Amino acid sequence: MEVSTDKPNKIKINRPPKSAYFLLVGIFAISYAVIYIAIILRVHFLSGGSENTAMSETAANLIFAFALLMLLVALYLYIAFSRNELLFTLKVPAALMTVFTIVITANIFVAYLNPYAMLVSLTALLLLPYTKRRDAFAFNVFACLISSFTLIDNKTNMFAVVSFTIISGALSGAISVYAFPSSLTRMMSVLRAFVTVVSAVAMYAVFLSVYSFDVRPLQENFLYIGVSAAAQMLLAIFIEPIIESAFNITTDFKLVELTNHKAPLIHRLIVEAPGTFNHSLAVANFAEICASAIGENPFFARACAYYHDVGKLNNAMYFTENQAGYNPHDELLPEVSAEIIRQHTEDGYALCMENRIPEEIARVAIEHHGTLPITYFYNKAKSLTDSEVDMNEYRYHGDTPRGKIAAIIMICDSAEAAIRAMDNPDGERVDKLLKNMIDERLRLGQFDNCAITVQELNAVRAAIVGAYGGLFHKRIKYDNAARKDSAHV
Ligand SMILES: [Fe+2]
Ligand SMILES: [Fe+2]
Repeated sequence: MEVSTDKPNKIKINRPPKSAYFLLVGIFAISYAVIYIAIILRVHFLSGGSENTAMSETAANLIFAFALLMLLVALYLYIAFSRNELLFTLKVPAALMTVFTIVITANIFVAYLNPYAMLVSLTALLLLPYTKRRDAFAFNVFACLISSFTLIDNKTNMFAVVSFTIISGALSGAISVYAFPSSLTRMMSVLRAFVTVVSAVAMYAVFLSVYSFDVRPLQENFLYIGVSAAAQMLLAIFIEPIIESAFNITTDFKLVELTNHKAPLIHRLIVEAPGTFNHSLAVANFAEICASAIGENPFFARACAYYHDVGKLNNAMYFTENQAGYNPHDELLPEVSAEIIRQHTEDGYALCMENRIPEEIARVAIEHHGTLPITYFYNKAKSLTDSEVDMNEYRYHGDTPRGKIAAIIMICDSAEAAIRAMDNPDGERVDKLLKNMIDERLRLGQFDNCAITVQELNAVRAAIVGAYGGLFHKRIKYDNAARKDSAHV
């Protein structure tokens, strides 16, 4: 009997839909309009529009319009080509542009009070929890560039103020983004905000020594920089959870909340499917180590592992880990069993979305089995018939992993079960098992839509081999005498 083990037909090319690029243009257009209107209002009403000739005001507006357009086009190209994975849901680009636009608009008016009071680090402080370091840095520099060129009509020490804004923005942005670990406690994030804004004050002291002509308003400028620094710290702390909630964005703090055992779905797992909960914990321990090994976010890996099998809640007793003797599949046809088993991926996604779990975590519920076959019931079907059994009817219907963490969960999910089933696992046998498992998934195209590299897969394998001993240690079997002795120790 010939059975096809080729790749299933259902592999999709993993690129953002074209509509996402147009929607991103829309987001940028709104941002452009808001910033430009703010610039015009400031030029006209606040920057001595009456002192300027009509021509100079129009000329200034045209220069601003063109420069703003060029900078936003550059930023659009950065996201569209360098960070196009953000375009799958658009909520992160929308959050980035919202923060970016608000900070620049605020700066345009703050500059009227005193140009040195501009919020040069706030963009980086607000964006860092939601996105990669380079995004936070790039957006902060662009925000400072745009904010600074609106100072061109400023009458006093224009060059000093513009260069201060750009350089202190780049410096304090770099410090906030690169000088601290990506995973912070709340206290560390306050410290980061403090160090970041202090660096702007220090930068002003350097500027004073360079631009000695600017000494006259020294105390006033220091006061504005100090107040601005404190305001940016407070704004970052207060605005961050608002952005997180408004866009349902996943920060490390949110991920920790999601893995609290009192979180509603996790609590349901503990009560209704304790076997699945224990399995998820074990997968989470592996996934966290693997994520760290390839430079991915371990908090995100842990949260994905906690939620990857929540779909089993709908039929908990049909999954081996929750059974205590009785197996309902003994009374079912293999195709019915396969349908119940495969349904947990889609149910998991639906349950996550109902409970407002971030979509990137919910997607792992769909992707963690990819389009792999459910071999147990496929083999059972083969044993019950002489005719050919189509393996495609025993495959999961999910999408294949599209992020590296989803790939890690796929590997750790299978590895956890397989290693647990081994009688006497040793490093060599575990390594061989993992190599075969990963090779098979590569052959079946499970990582075709994912940017994970072979080196990273090797690092994941090494991380599991290094960790399984500690995570699956066996207990010594005490006899009565030993137990009695140990009671006296
Ligand atoms: Fe699963
Ligand atoms: Fe699982």
